[in-house]
Amino acid sequence: MPTMQLNEIRKEKERQFTFKNIAPLKEMLDNLPKFKVDNIKFNNAIEIDGEFDEELIYQTARNLMPWRKGPFRIGKTFIDSEWQSFIKYNLLEKHINLENKIVADVGCNNGYYMFRMLSQNPKKVVGFDPMALFKLQFDFINHFVDSEKLHYELLGVEHLPLYEHKFDTIFCLGVLYHRSDPVTMLKQLKASLNQGGEAIIDTFIIESNEEIALCPNRYAKMRNVYFIPSIPTLKNWAEIAKFKEFEVLEIKPTDLNEQRKTDWIEGESLNNFLNEDGSKTIEGYPPPIRAYVRLKN
Ligand SMILES: C[S@@+](CC[C@H](N)C(=O)[O-])C[C@H]1O[C@@H](n2cnc3c(N)ncnc32)[C@H](O)[C@@H]1O
Repeated sequence: MPTMQLNEIRKEKERQFTFKNIAPLKEMLDNLPKFKVDNIKFNNAIEIDGEFDEELIYQTARNLMPWRKGPFRIGKTFIDSEWQSFIKYNLLEKHINLENKIVADVGCNNGYYMFRMLSQNPKKVVGFDPMALFKLQFDFINHFVDSEKLHYELLGVEHLPLYEHKFDTIFCLGVLYHRSDPVTMLKQLKASLNQGGEAIIDTFIIESNEEIALCPNRYAKMRNVYFIPSIPTLKNWAEIAKFKEFEVLEIKPTDLNEQRKTDWIEGESLNNFLNEDGSKTIEGYPPPIRAYVRLKN
């Protein structure tokens, strides 16, 4: 029964590929020739070398803008994404062991972390993100990486408990504060973990020892930020969701080196979301600082 429901949801999400802004991009990727790939490096940038039609690669990448996560280099095309995503991934990498694990990356965007995870030899990595453009970016990169271990589902965190199997490790990074019911989200992660499994999450936090959360109308110009918890509040949420262990791995402010305007996005970036000296968001709230947390099932 859950699988039937899931297939209906999948079909509905795939309708995005018929939308007039997405359909031509899908067709462009379907027609992209196979190139000879000589070497792939999973460094801070995911770097792919081979025998490419450089102009075609560049134009394809440009058509898939905006690139939020990365960077990637394919031949001579360097996709300098808005986020230097290696800063987050490198922070977490030392805390995780994915050897032979079944892994989910929920809110995976274009899969930058999924590609990085391959270095730890997981059994399988499933990325979940409901946005068709990000899946097309993933498909573009995986056209070259061509990994059978990586799978992408156009599904959200709310669909996880319906999924065909559970996971040993679930990453859910940068999603919690976008959910209007964060405790339900944590319960959905918990329900999708194997016994002894772990969820690695990150969220904006406010610095306070009290059990409180900020409920902004807008935060750093984002309209979809609902709750920014203090660490004690986040711990309470994890306990309500019945996680057995709560461990803060890292705490780090987001700075203008990690998130900045590049040629690969349109519009604004972090420096436009903060006041002049960066001491507050444009709305007068504390500037973005994130906690990285391990939750054990
Ligand atoms: C702030 S970005 C975080 C991306 C990445 N995980 C990171 O930490 O760099 C939030 C991501 O969640 C995705 N998203 C939107 N709705 C979602 C949902 N219902 N479930 C899971 N992810 C969702 C967005 O498309 C976007 O890629």
